Amino acid sequence: MNNFKTLFLLIFGLFSVALFASPEEDLQKFRDYFENRFPETEFSDYKNGVYSIDLSSREQWESIEDFPPYEINIEQGEELFNTPFKNGNNYASCFENDGIGIRQNYPYFDENRGEVITLELAINECRKNNGEKPYSYYKGGPMADLSAYMASTSSGKIFDVEIPNDDRAFDAYEEGKRLYFTKVGQLNFSCADCHVYQTGSKLRADIPSPAIGHPTHFPVYRSSAGRLVSLHERFAGCLNRVRAKPFKAQGEEYRNLEFFISYMSNGLEINGPGSRK
Ligand code: HEC
Repeated sequence: MNNFKTLFLLIFGLFSVALFASPEEDLQKFRDYFENRFPETEFSDYKNGVYSIDLSSREQWESIEDFPPYEINIEQGEELFNTPFKNGNNYASCFENDGIGIRQNYPYFDENRGEVITLELAINECRKNNGEKPYSYYKGGPMADLSAYMASTSSGKIFDVEIPNDDRAFDAYEEGKRLYFTKVGQLNFSCADCHVYQTGSKLRADIPSPAIGHPTHFPVYRSSAGRLVSLHERFAGCLNRVRAKPFKAQGEEYRNLEFFISYMSNGLEINGPGSRK
């Protein structure tokens, strides 16, 4: 079979299951699709985003990662993490295993509350429950530093997002998936158009990365912004790019989207924070 035909069948296959399949089937389709599309890329390397498929820019990126620009954020995050609240409690008291090495367990579907809980949401809830003001989800700062530190303590742990046997959890997953595949904005693109179908092709100066492996390395220090950027800010950046109205960071839409893409990254290692241009 020639490549074109294979690609067509794969895309068609992905589309047909995208609407009706179980999460396990979706996951298998995604993996098979990328395995066929980029036979040179080891599955474990998708944690490196675009550098898993764009070897020409990889070397430069690796030399940046030798002296990571986010090192200081991890240190600041650690200090914040270990500073007690006014009431004497600390972040560790809000999380399992005192908050160390748990990044891979987020997001999860909370069956008591009936919604997806992300790490950053949980950090702010921890603050509120201890009488502290929540941090902003935008423009780096203490939330991004805490999230970077907590991710760093999970380095090498494997994403294993579960979808509990609960209709509401399945709906949250489906909502995230729907957003991923729905064309939006004046330019009429879906996330999947760029991060599944056009992955690897040059879009202006950029190559969109594969859809699997996105959340493993967040938050990301972007040299273009000169600061850490959260996953939800990145979602908003991509929506702006196609001239669609972004949603609110940590709103239900992005939490469901994060649930979907994190499930699609199951089996990959946490390697956050990361750096990007
Ligand atoms: C018009 C094409 C396009 C669309 C549509 C698009 N993106 Fe992107 N996205 C890019 C490009 C280009 C980059 C920068 C290169 C890369 O992928 O790292 C990027 C980067 C990202 C990153 C950061 C990757 C990393 O490793 O740092 C995430 C996460 C992401 N996009 C998610 C999404 C989601 C979710 C949607 C839908 C809401 C979306 N994108 C829609 C083109 C697009």
